[in-house]
Amino acid sequence: MSGAVRVSASLLAADFANLGDEVARLEEAGCDELHFDVMDGDFVPNITFGADVLAAVRHLTKLPVDVHMMVTEPGRFAAQFAAAGADTFTVHAEACSNLAGTLTDVAEAGMRPGISINPSTEANAVTRYTSTVDRFLIMSVEPGFGGQSLMPETLPKIKVIRAAGTGRTLDIAVDGGVKVENAASVIEAGADTLISGTGLFKFPDGMAEAVRQIKSP
Ligand code: DX5
Ligand code: ZN
Repeated sequence: MSGAVRVSASLLAADFANLGDEVARLEEAGCDELHFDVMDGDFVPNITFGADVLAAVRHLTKLPVDVHMMVTEPGRFAAQFAAAGADTFTVHAEACSNLAGTLTDVAEAGMRPGISINPSTEANAVTRYTSTVDRFLIMSVEPGFGGQSLMPETLPKIKVIRAAGTGRTLDIAVDGGVKVENAASVIEAGADTLISGTGLFKFPDGMAEAVRQIKSP
């Protein structure tokens, strides 16, 4: 592991009635990025929010936003999310009938393309894309819900992807159940971007302390 660890805050755990205050709180706490979980009720058994909500959030902060598309054929929405201000657009390998084509659409829309994989998907299924994307997002829970426990058996995929990287600077993010208690193991496994929802919003000593301890566990 080299360089600094980034904390990306999952808005799924925020109070949606007070999103403005929640984003300000995350910014003050030292989060480096916002993580915006889009669910379609098809790829995952749950529905969240879309590009209009992102556009509203975009006006509240300068923090970069990673849109995590838990959506079947997410390329359909690339232009819409780019217009709403997404910086990174992360699609599930399992949700795309033409992953290469989708990644091209994302880049052409002006966003950084990312690939996410479910716990049951092997790293080898996506290592051929290490020179085309800016981010890999390893799901450490089954996508669809916040507040689950991290599955440690997903973490060895990070090293497989890192080893396949061809000199391009790649973010490798871990998403699902990341918190102060397991941050050391996630960083040790090679991740540089730790996505956390419940682990930030529900940390007993406050969000700033959670961010500090996740960055330096
Ligand atoms: C799960 C989402 C995650 C999740 C993270 O489907 O992709 O981003 O909300 O939340 P916690 O940290 O609560 O697991
Ligand atoms: Zn997510």
